[in-house]
Amino acid sequence: MSLSILFALLFAVSPVVVSQHASVPSSTVASTSQTSSGASSFTTSVELSVEDLWDLYVGPVSTFSINTTVEPTPIPSSSLVPPPALYYPPFPKGQQVPLQPKNESWKFPKGFWYGVAGAAYQIEGAVKAEGRGPSIWDVLTHRVVNYVSTNDTGDIADNNYYQYKEDIARIAALGLKTYSFSLSWSRILPFGSGSINEQALLHYDDVIDTCLQYGIIPQVTLFHWDLPLFLQNTYNGWLSDKIISDFTDYARIVFNRWHSKVHYWFTVNEPIVFCGFYPLPANYFKNTTIPPKQQPYVCGHNVLLSHASAYHLAKSINSSLSVSFKTNGGFKIPRTDSQADAEAVQRAWDFNEGWFANPTFINGDYPTHLKDYVSGFLPAFTDKQKAQINGTCDIFAHDAYTSDFIMAPDAGIDACIANTTNPLYPGCYNTTKVYANGYWTIGAAGDPGTPWLNQATDWVPSFLHYMQDTWKPRGGIAITEFGISEPYEELRTNLASILIDPIRSNYYKSYLEAILIAIGEGVNVVGTLAWSIYDNLEWSQGYSVKFGIQYVNLTTQERYFKASAFEYANMFNVYLEK
Ligand code: NOJ
Repeated sequence: MSLSILFALLFAVSPVVVSQHASVPSSTVASTSQTSSGASSFTTSVELSVEDLWDLYVGPVSTFSINTTVEPTPIPSSSLVPPPALYYPPFPKGQQVPLQPKNESWKFPKGFWYGVAGAAYQIEGAVKAEGRGPSIWDVLTHRVVNYVSTNDTGDIADNNYYQYKEDIARIAALGLKTYSFSLSWSRILPFGSGSINEQALLHYDDVIDTCLQYGIIPQVTLFHWDLPLFLQNTYNGWLSDKIISDFTDYARIVFNRWHSKVHYWFTVNEPIVFCGFYPLPANYFKNTTIPPKQQPYVCGHNVLLSHASAYHLAKSINSSLSVSFKTNGGFKIPRTDSQADAEAVQRAWDFNEGWFANPTFINGDYPTHLKDYVSGFLPAFTDKQKAQINGTCDIFAHDAYTSDFIMAPDAGIDACIANTTNPLYPGCYNTTKVYANGYWTIGAAGDPGTPWLNQATDWVPSFLHYMQDTWKPRGGIAITEFGISEPYEELRTNLASILIDPIRSNYYKSYLEAILIAIGEGVNVVGTLAWSIYDNLEWSQGYSVKFGIQYVNLTTQERYFKASAFEYANMFNVYLEK
């Protein structure tokens, strides 16, 4: 059989029977072939090993020379010398400790957790090592032409799979307290369900134990976008309600294994974003007849049910765990004081944060504007489902990088709602980073590769108040990702100029000051995680966009602290309540 025919078969698969060979996981898929009229009336079965999945869907991958777990080398004390102060350079001798004029009325309360975050596909590398199955991102990076602008892949990334001990030691050396990372679902379950890969569990055992050994609080995300490919190609992944039981089974494995060592859990990362990946590029994955604009909301529905199921499971295993999902988005500021812009702002909340936060924090159901749209094609949540979803986030974990001005579409909101081909449909609100006078952006821009991101830290206190007042999270608010892409950082070639990142340093200082203001005004903020532990694969921007507070030389895999790492850590030296 030619490869192309086999592909055609594999993209049209229906229910899966996963065989239970523990050592060499393989899976049997029932496949459907095409008749000349395009009808799918013949089926057959193909037995696939993990290796077959790689060969058929991804192809060869790159590996790095360091390919066994390495013990950390001592961190040179010279690399821990902070940079000269950014703001008030002393005269004449230079200053090795950033000068921080302290505001005595500010403090981070005792117990505030602060650290860094990363995610499996963006940092681990070692994509085929020790039994990992492919995820959709292995296909997107390897096969889908121009999906990643730079043609980069996560094959090696930061080689964290082998260098995690050093990575954790470096976090501790900076004086940070928390490391948030995600598990690779397809390492633990190469087919997404069925046979468990024990080597992956042993690996994450050691990541968690290493954190504890260094006094670092591990925080674990179950799903950070790297959906096991097999689940996408058998039933369309998040577009099918079959994912609810597979996600719950996966959650059972990890909660059972690590509930006594890991207190903070995040089920899924930024569903607003990963549900927005649907529709996936045509012809690389299983086809679906769900209309493209509806797909993100079908995904979201299954995410909410999967999350709720995993939440209750976690609590039944250990009621003391903190379990939430991570949402994302910025403060939404009406661009003018018109009624239309005010309505656009409410639509923007409903179609973003409210999509996931209202069901979990308010009433088990979608916010009004979103509901008006999805009730045309999604089943309404039953009372039982509403009760199951409501209350299933212990903290409001929000990835809040920036903010936007919001305005009504040029043709008006009603005209947009009536026109399903309007590019702004179904949200029917517009955004800009530019003040209404047309000259000034909301704040300094990040890298051109991240046009969605400008510093907007002045708006952070208002945003935190809004979150607290609207969703009233019982366990407080955590900023679980924040950071900025230093503009044009990828063009810098000498180490010293790479390590000075003044826009990012200023961002962290201003942002944390904004949080201190909000805390002083009574907002319950419980923790922050800087994105990111180090430069990594920025998804479809590849390695060209940098978010790290550490630089990684991708040729040698050496790590270096940037100036922003010290700025970030120093804010807690100064303001953490002793
Ligand atoms: C949020 C995502 O969770 C993360 O994966 C991404 O790299 C950062 N934002 C920066 O875009």
